[in-house]
Amino acid sequence: MKLERERALDHARDLVAAAWEEFDHARDIEPPISPELLATLDLPLPEAGIDVVEALDEAAEALDQSLAQARPRYLAYIGSSGLEIGALADLLAHSYDPNLALHAGAATLIEAQALRWTAEFVGFPAAGGSFTSGGTVSNVTALAAARERAVPGSRRSGTPPHAVAYCSADAHYSIVRAIELLGVGSDNLRAVPIDGHRRMRPEALDEMIRADRASGLTPIAVVGTAGTTLTGAIDPLDAIADVCSEHGIWMHVDGAYGLPAASVMPERFSGLERADSVTVDAHKWMFVPKACGIVMVRDESTLAAAFGHETSYIPGTRNAVDVTLEYSRPLRALKLWLAFRVHGATKFREAIQRNVDFARDLHVMAATRGWEVGPVPDLSIVLMRKPGIDNAELVQRLQADGRVYISHATVDGETWLRPCFTNVRTSPADVAVLMDVADEVSSV
Ligand SMILES: Cc1ncc(COP(=O)(O)O)c(C=O)c1O
Repeated sequence: MKLERERALDHARDLVAAAWEEFDHARDIEPPISPELLATLDLPLPEAGIDVVEALDEAAEALDQSLAQARPRYLAYIGSSGLEIGALADLLAHSYDPNLALHAGAATLIEAQALRWTAEFVGFPAAGGSFTSGGTVSNVTALAAARERAVPGSRRSGTPPHAVAYCSADAHYSIVRAIELLGVGSDNLRAVPIDGHRRMRPEALDEMIRADRASGLTPIAVVGTAGTTLTGAIDPLDAIADVCSEHGIWMHVDGAYGLPAASVMPERFSGLERADSVTVDAHKWMFVPKACGIVMVRDESTLAAAFGHETSYIPGTRNAVDVTLEYSRPLRALKLWLAFRVHGATKFREAIQRNVDFARDLHVMAATRGWEVGPVPDLSIVLMRKPGIDNAELVQRLQADGRVYISHATVDGETWLRPCFTNVRTSPADVAVLMDVADEVSSV
């Protein structure tokens, strides 16, 4: 299984360079999948290989006919950017292929340093944590630690039926999933009511906790969201921290999407520093390629209490597997480490601020042009809709048009267009195109 290395590398270099150049500008149409490619993608298991250049071309063609979040007018869901230095980092990391399950020498130090840099960037006093495959795994990791602290020994004896947890009605589904996987059961996850800005109401949280305690239930965690997936709302973290500290409950902050913005508007995230654990995804608003999630805790012994163990084939000192959910782990941290080294934290802040400004500009533009708009964006998600037409159908037509790619969201039963700016390549001109195309397509 020896590759013709130089030829493969030269060709891969050309393909990557062409892709990067393409991403500098949006394309005006999303091409359909060609019949030739469909036929290739239907082939059975190849018994013999083909030439590496031909195979790389096939792969590049398939990717070119895929929805790529790296493109500057991909504004659906919460996208990423496939930042160039991150892609190079992945190539390097996957070539050396260290396993971060155990102590891996300098690679382990890179992960620890990248974690410290991230903590400093967002303003959280992390004493431990790890890089994960994303927000979902980060949230389940943090909540496993929370459960063990609230009910010591529950990792072995099972979650007692009196355990409950709290998050806002707009929290990401991964919180539900984590609570289900941990055996708390989503029926015991309280959806705390939200205010007019779709932020958790801390006084309602306090009342729910008091009522649950009075009925003999055991709260294991409160999850505040620092940037909801639906609208980008930031829960009042300081007030939530007050409630948690009064009742002695673990506070987790899910900042998978929004937390990088704490680097440019720390006052909006005040109270973050009081959390027990924090989730942030570098593959969302820190622009690096997937997967690059981070979970951080203020007290590393809480992770060890939930995950520490002995196996006969890994004797000895504490390893990463004693504080993480996963076993084999790639060096996901390298892409963020290299991105900070090459671009510096200032460039990150500037790019995040630009995305925030785009959302505010679009919000004003849409209102001026007769669109109904949601609240002024807290972060980089805009809610807008054209009165008098079916907005879900409008999004379908916009996706078919291909010049911009956005998704829709249902908020209180109403359908809204929901552009989200997290791409480092998006320019003011792309924002103007989005508005013009939305106007054009909605008026035919
Ligand atoms: C607030 C929030 N939490 C968690 C997640 C899940 O993250 P991942 O898709 O990386 O698992 C998301 C994804 O959009 C999110 O927005």
